[in-house]
Amino acid sequence: MTHLALLAGPAPAAGAESFADHTRRLGARPWGNRGLIDTIERAGLVGRGGASFPVGVKWRSVAERRGGAVVIANGAEGEPLSRKDQTLMALRPHLVIDGAMLAAEAVGAKRILLYVGEAHGSAVMALSRALAQRPAAEAGRARVLPAPPSYVAGEETAAVNFVNSGVAAPTAIPPRPFEQGVDGHPTLVQNVESLAHAALIARRGDAWFRSLGVNGAAGTVLLTVSGAVARPGVVEVASGSTVDEVLALAGGVRGTARAVLLGGYFGGWITARQAGTMALDPKGLRAAGGSLGCGVVSVLDEAADPLDVSARIMQHLANESAAQCGPCFFGLRSLSAATTRLAGRQPDLGDLPKLHRWAAMVKGRGACRHPDGAVAFLQSALSVFEPEFAAAAGARGAMVP
Ligand SMILES: Cc1cc2nc3c(=O)[nH]c(=O)nc-3n(C[C@H](O)[C@H](O)[C@H](O)COP(=O)(O)O)c2cc1C
Ligand code: SF4
Repeated sequence: MTHLALLAGPAPAAGAESFADHTRRLGARPWGNRGLIDTIERAGLVGRGGASFPVGVKWRSVAERRGGAVVIANGAEGEPLSRKDQTLMALRPHLVIDGAMLAAEAVGAKRILLYVGEAHGSAVMALSRALAQRPAAEAGRARVLPAPPSYVAGEETAAVNFVNSGVAAPTAIPPRPFEQGVDGHPTLVQNVESLAHAALIARRGDAWFRSLGVNGAAGTVLLTVSGAVARPGVVEVASGSTVDEVLALAGGVRGTARAVLLGGYFGGWITARQAGTMALDPKGLRAAGGSLGCGVVSVLDEAADPLDVSARIMQHLANESAAQCGPCFFGLRSLSAATTRLAGRQPDLGDLPKLHRWAAMVKGRGACRHPDGAVAFLQSALSVFEPEFAAAAGARGAMVP
């Protein structure tokens, strides 16, 4: 936990680090090229926006296409439990801009859009001021674009759609942004933390990045720790650190932990016992079929009602459907309503088996992964809080197939 690279260094006492301090601390940034894509692939960097997709593979697929590519640095951060992107942008705006510039050079893009949640005021301001401090040749290639404050606005096709038409709602795929994105050009949509890591890898190399991880993992990861901990906030830890180590860094658990929500509203509940020794390695979890999502670690206290907390999250996700696909809009509403009835201990007949059945029916039926994320969350709740759900359903619900 000692090798901190993104947020550490001389703490930017009064908010955002200036260009002069940034350059003094890290040196001038190198030029991005195809060699950098190889380096990033060797580093094993995976995306930090949710899906943990390999960054180098994505850069290569944009670089191999012809026609004025565009880079979108994704700092929408609509996940309610996440603060790590806004913290990074507010404190280290130049590291994010460096990453976006390097990505643009490596994939052959002339335009960069810094797509930042409009609700994240200090991040919008820090990036805008930081651009004004850059050399004119760089500043002219990039602009800050405030993103609407909705959950789906950060989805990659929604970001592209917003640039093209002003509507931040996902569009059908194919084409994916890397094939046809902003104004029909190949578009790289990359999370701002992913870009910041790339900016450090470009300076210090892939071996350096790999050496930062522990337990076989590579690099560091930003996490937002919340819930029943003494000091909630954003921490940077070595990838591969365990949940227990992360919670110790956040001052330890307040009370007794019942479960941990890993990855945010699109992530899943894990029992506190299972979570303790779990290694937080974005690449390793992806390889195992899981995901660290956007790096949320939220602790649920024994005293809290897990059904109530889960029902409120389902309500939020149902409300955030972009209402374009029937299974997402109607399916999530029905799932949310049944979860809320169970949480209120006033279920309709068969609510619990219906939740299981409907969840399977909604999965994979939307234009984007929003319903899949919501269903994954619900299924984790049904599994981890199985006794509570069964008690809430009573004998009535359990008898209906
Ligand atoms: C509903 C939804 C919301 C999303 N919101 C964000 C977001 O706020 N920020 C982000 O970086 N990625 C978000 N993503 C993931 C993006 O679609 C995309 O995968 C990501 O920006 C790619 O960057 P990465 O490979 O560096 O993670 C979201 C995905 C979905 C399905
Ligand atoms: S799946 Fe849901 S959030 Fe995604 S485009 Fe369809 S309605 Fe919108």
